[in-house]
Amino acid sequence: MDTEVSVVGLGAMGAALAGAFLAAGRSTTVWNRTRGKALPLVARGAAEAASPGAAVGASPLVVVCLKTYDVVREVLSPCAEELAGRTVVNLTSGSPVHAREAADRAGKRGVRYLDGAVLATPSGVGRPDTLHLYGGPRIVFDAHRDVLAALGDPVYLGDDPALPAVHDVALLGQLWATLTGWLQGVALVGADGPGGGVSATAYTAVASRWMTTAGRLMDEYARRIDAGEYRDGEFPLDLHLMLMGLLAHAGELRGVESGLPETFLGLAGRAVADGHGADGYARLIDYIRRDADR
Ligand SMILES: NC(=O)c1ccc[n+]([C@@H]2O[C@H](COP(=O)([O-])OP(=O)(O)OC[C@H]3O[C@@H](n4cnc5c(N)ncnc54)[C@H](OP(=O)(O)O)[C@@H]3O)[C@@H](O)[C@H]2O)c1
Repeated sequence: MDTEVSVVGLGAMGAALAGAFLAAGRSTTVWNRTRGKALPLVARGAAEAASPGAAVGASPLVVVCLKTYDVVREVLSPCAEELAGRTVVNLTSGSPVHAREAADRAGKRGVRYLDGAVLATPSGVGRPDTLHLYGGPRIVFDAHRDVLAALGDPVYLGDDPALPAVHDVALLGQLWATLTGWLQGVALVGADGPGGGVSATAYTAVASRWMTTAGRLMDEYARRIDAGEYRDGEFPLDLHLMLMGLLAHAGELRGVESGLPETFLGLAGRAVADGHGADGYARLIDYIRRDADR
């Protein structure tokens, strides 16, 4: 076997990764503990390795996607000899601590290492707009960027291998917050009027356009947070607080309970009580950062 990329782990995600490499015309070796999972990929042109060591030895680039970091360690530990001089890209989900430990271990064994995070479900892998996050030495990322582009849009975050894991949970938190806010909107608007109110689909046609405005606000507030300048004559926290009260009231009237108004009122209420009513929403970062000096 002498292929461009090896994929170790063919669960739902690993199989999608290997499939995307094949779809992009990259010669691919695969390995999985349960061998039957390789069959559909072999039918599409993949080579199946008989062991993790054989998979690692087959390609300069080894993409690993296993259940946990403990499994990665268990599977790759016996392959020290084959791994030397190769690049491992670990797309297994884990914590920043896991990522740093794996990078340290790789460094001690002469293995080039990137940690990564896939921001998609398996069906999204291979789409050009699907984000894949990478952290580790820039030179290693640059050397493999073209092959990794088969999986989607490769985003390099920096030298620290922990960056993808932190971004992964941060972005998931943002996703859940957004989706919960959207569900609250569906419930509020759907509860109104005769015949059950507005459908989820009709509300979403407006709500998804509103996300463009939210993105613009994020850009603006990010500049303010980085500059530490929070004054906002246009949309101050005093006004936010009043509107949050209206949201809470609407939820009571229409039997909607998301927990969000209480969270909003708690954060903004504390900031206003501390004298920050003339500041904008970005000021709430100080109430979210536990150790912030307010
Ligand atoms: N699925 C998603 O939507 C998604 C999205 C983003 C990130 N991820 C991450 O991607 C990673 C894989 O997820 P997945 O969805 O592919 O999970 P999965 O379908 O459960 O597959 C798990 C993989 O780990 C292997 N494995 C488990 N224990 C093992 C052991 N002791 N020795 C050798 N191999 C072992 C499995 O091999 P067998 O086939 O032999 O059991 C299989 O290849 C996870 O870290 C997950 O969090 C998944």
